[in-house]
Amino acid sequence: MLVYLSRSIAHAIPLLFMSDIVYGYKTVYPIPLGMGSSWNPDLIEKAYQNTAEEAYAGGTQVAFAPMVDLVRDARWGRVLESTGEDPYLNSRFATAMVRGFQHDLKKGKGIVSCVKHFAAYGAVEAGREYNSADMSLPNLYQNYLPSYHAAVDAGAKMVMTSLTTLNGVPATADKWLLNKVLREQWGFKGIVISDYASVYELTQHGFAKDSQDAADKALDAGIDIDMKSPCYANGLKPLLEEGHLSESKLNEAVWRVLSLKNELGLFEDPYRGASHSLEQDDILTDNKRQTARQVSRESMVLLKNDNNILPLDPEINQKIALIGPYANERGMLGLWAVHGDTKNTVTIEDGILEHIDGSALSVEKGTDIIRDKEFLLHAGMNSDQVIQLLSDNDAELQNHERAISAAKQSDLIIFACGEHTLQSGEAGSRTKLRLPTNQQDLFDELVATGKKIITIVISGRPLVLTDVAKNSEAVIEAWFPGTEGGHALADILFGDYNPSGRLSMSFPYSEAQYPIYYNHLATGRPEKDSQHVGRFVSRYTDAPTQPLFPFGYGLSYGTTHYGEIQLSRETLHSNETVEASIEITYTGILPRDETVQMYLHDCVASVVQPVKRLIDFQKIHLDPNSKQTVSFEISSDQLGFYDQTGSYTIEPGDFDLFIGKDSNNVQETQFTLV
Ligand code: BGC
Repeated sequence: MLVYLSRSIAHAIPLLFMSDIVYGYKTVYPIPLGMGSSWNPDLIEKAYQNTAEEAYAGGTQVAFAPMVDLVRDARWGRVLESTGEDPYLNSRFATAMVRGFQHDLKKGKGIVSCVKHFAAYGAVEAGREYNSADMSLPNLYQNYLPSYHAAVDAGAKMVMTSLTTLNGVPATADKWLLNKVLREQWGFKGIVISDYASVYELTQHGFAKDSQDAADKALDAGIDIDMKSPCYANGLKPLLEEGHLSESKLNEAVWRVLSLKNELGLFEDPYRGASHSLEQDDILTDNKRQTARQVSRESMVLLKNDNNILPLDPEINQKIALIGPYANERGMLGLWAVHGDTKNTVTIEDGILEHIDGSALSVEKGTDIIRDKEFLLHAGMNSDQVIQLLSDNDAELQNHERAISAAKQSDLIIFACGEHTLQSGEAGSRTKLRLPTNQQDLFDELVATGKKIITIVISGRPLVLTDVAKNSEAVIEAWFPGTEGGHALADILFGDYNPSGRLSMSFPYSEAQYPIYYNHLATGRPEKDSQHVGRFVSRYTDAPTQPLFPFGYGLSYGTTHYGEIQLSRETLHSNETVEASIEITYTGILPRDETVQMYLHDCVASVVQPVKRLIDFQKIHLDPNSKQTVSFEISSDQLGFYDQTGSYTIEPGDFDLFIGKDSNNVQETQFTLV
């Protein structure tokens, strides 16, 4: 790599500065799994445009993002970087993120988007990091490929391969994936870059015999840039000299890289954009913070709100105990916010104090985020860092006692808990998706006080919240909420914003349910409506089959009622459309944003189809106590599926159509394609 860099300089070839800018640069947004819950691609496009502006000023030309891997198993720590389990929703966000990054790329402050990790990294077996993925072609085409395809269609100029194997072939040397699918079927003309050391890792997979063979196989499959490994730098010249590699093949890769540099104007201005004064003007501005606050508000999901305990009335004189390790913690950015600085974060305490007087609030940490030394050492900290992070035993005891005493003296507890940053993200696979035991113990004691508890969960993945939800009056999933997290949370707690987030990934009842996702195939023995009773149906004997909270789920303040679905016609021919409308009645005193979700089921098909799949949605605004009719247009080309050869096919027949508040709570009708 160094050799390559110095040669580049000698030939006056500018460098490409590339970096992981996954969900914000200095202004950090919620993690993408949170953004997925916003169901608001337009807002997310704005967020990525802002991010590009900041990165441009900082001198970065390529962002290794968006990460659009579809995910179904939250044991995998990288679910944090994905927008979730649905191919349609993921595709909408992939498009928005690429457009945001590359907005005004030629003349303005856009940067290049490198979509990753092609392909199906999110399907690693058992959720174990860097494991292999194996799947049928219909599953690959129907579920896993659409989001990368959408990013390519939106103009992403770079694609990064996955570190893993797909159906036995490492993605970094998969000719079928890189040539047939990406370049031939999708018409991709840009650059393909390997993931970190994945060219070298072809030898570890047992796919290449040595580094030179790895370079040969990767270049042959279509990798233009070898990220990090020395294989290209050391291997390409001998391969050329020995006649294993044709000069024209090498030239193709070089040409693609030079063309991008030229397109970005780097030959004229090698540090394109980088400027200290632009950094002053464009980074962490009030406007950008405001967008981050809005994204953060829209990403948070109200999972439970018994007796309408929320929103809190700031005028009511009650004593609130804000307890937990995230009560006043700035480290709410998540693992992949590599350019973010926690000193800019608004904490939950900061946010709450903008709504109520300090005399009504007592704040106690109660315990550390995590007290598992072994884990922290294993997760990458050295022993000095661990010592610095953890309270000593006496301090921990005092924190604990103060928290319990504050809880007892309060009218209401807000418990701010969650994962440690190192518990999710890359190489953050876990088998136990619960709160760290020290936090669970504290929670149990808070429950024992008999006070009402509003729980705020900070996490990079769906945790198993079965016990937490049962024992809390209200629960807000806040993800790693980013720079403006504390403001956004307080806005929701006090009703300045009516929560609108809807889950883009199911929350399990137990880890043992993984993989669990709403758009699974119909089984021959469904739990309900089977000819079998009792034991011989598809279910667990010791746990529910359903998740704790399904895809699309989330509460808001006030209630909505969905009327019957009205169809403009009950049969349609190919190339025709049908309009489906539904009236929504809202009862509530705060304005509300409602995500109206439309799902489809193909009743009989030559490849078994999901019980339900999302085909469209609209996020609408409802005034207090109002009614609105929402209409969707469905065209015949939305009704198809991928067959066993990976071809898209549309078969006539009956279709169930569902419109509702989440994947489980829907109105239903039927139409026929003739
Ligand atoms: C990750 C990529 C990332 C790259 C460069 C790898 O470990 O898998 O997502 O872009 O590192 O930092």
